[in-house]
Amino acid sequence: MFARKGAGDHGILMGTSTQKDVSCDAVPQHVAVIMDGNGRWARRRILPRQVGHRAGIKPIRQIVEQCMCRGVKFLTLFAFSSENWQRPREEIRRLMVLFVEALNSEVEELYEKGVQLSFIGETGLLNPALQELMKAAEIRTHNNSRMNLAVAVAYGGRADLVNAAKKVARQVSEGTLDPEQIDETHYASALEMARLPDVDLLIRTGGEQRISNFLLWNLAYTELYFSDVLWPDFGVDEMKKALDFYVGRQRRFGRTGEQIEGARC
Ligand code: FPP
Repeated sequence: MFARKGAGDHGILMGTSTQKDVSCDAVPQHVAVIMDGNGRWARRRILPRQVGHRAGIKPIRQIVEQCMCRGVKFLTLFAFSSENWQRPREEIRRLMVLFVEALNSEVEELYEKGVQLSFIGETGLLNPALQELMKAAEIRTHNNSRMNLAVAVAYGGRADLVNAAKKVARQVSEGTLDPEQIDETHYASALEMARLPDVDLLIRTGGEQRISNFLLWNLAYTELYFSDVLWPDFGVDEMKKALDFYVGRQRRFGRTGEQIEGARC
């Protein structure tokens, strides 16, 4: 459905203009966000952690608005990781309640704004009522095309890679795929993000500088932006800083700076 930049996309070598897509774009096509720092935000105010998670809803609204305004086409948010199942049961329960509330209160507005909503991760592990709401939200917004908002819930990058390997292995064992046909494009089509282009910009808030098992395959050439600001305080101005950081990056994808300069738009 969406164009993926493949290994064979050698625009610069072939004298075409496709290189423009990888070096000169001021606006990232796909932004992913690790929304970290809700717990510390609450602790600093001597409040329970769930208050921090609840305060994390407002910046989501602001970031969605800002991305739409700047022309970002894909936004992916890391809401709950495979590893987050290890958190205290009560925190998980309250987070799930928050997801249900957020879906109930936000989906209609996202629909009105032209946002297509999708979910990635092992969503089958979630409460059935939440799964139903997710499915309904996907169906409701299916025909929207202004921006795609993907929410990663119960998502783990390694599990995603393993599940994709299983899918491809099944195709081979069923005789529908010759192992020689397996290339990066085919493998990527078995991943959770198959329908989405690679991530251009990853933002992590909360001061930590790590990937935490988020989109491992899809972050191979992503520009990384780390902010010390805790997620509940990450508003429009902070998002502008992140997008401005991206503008200043030279994306080389293995090529030299001179090659990129030569092809500059
Ligand atoms: C990480 O901060 C945050 C989470 C595990 C939950 C993220 C959830 C939200 C922002 C709100 C709801 C989201 C949606 C999509 C409806 P942390 O708890 O690890 O913070 P800490 O590092 O300060 O402890």
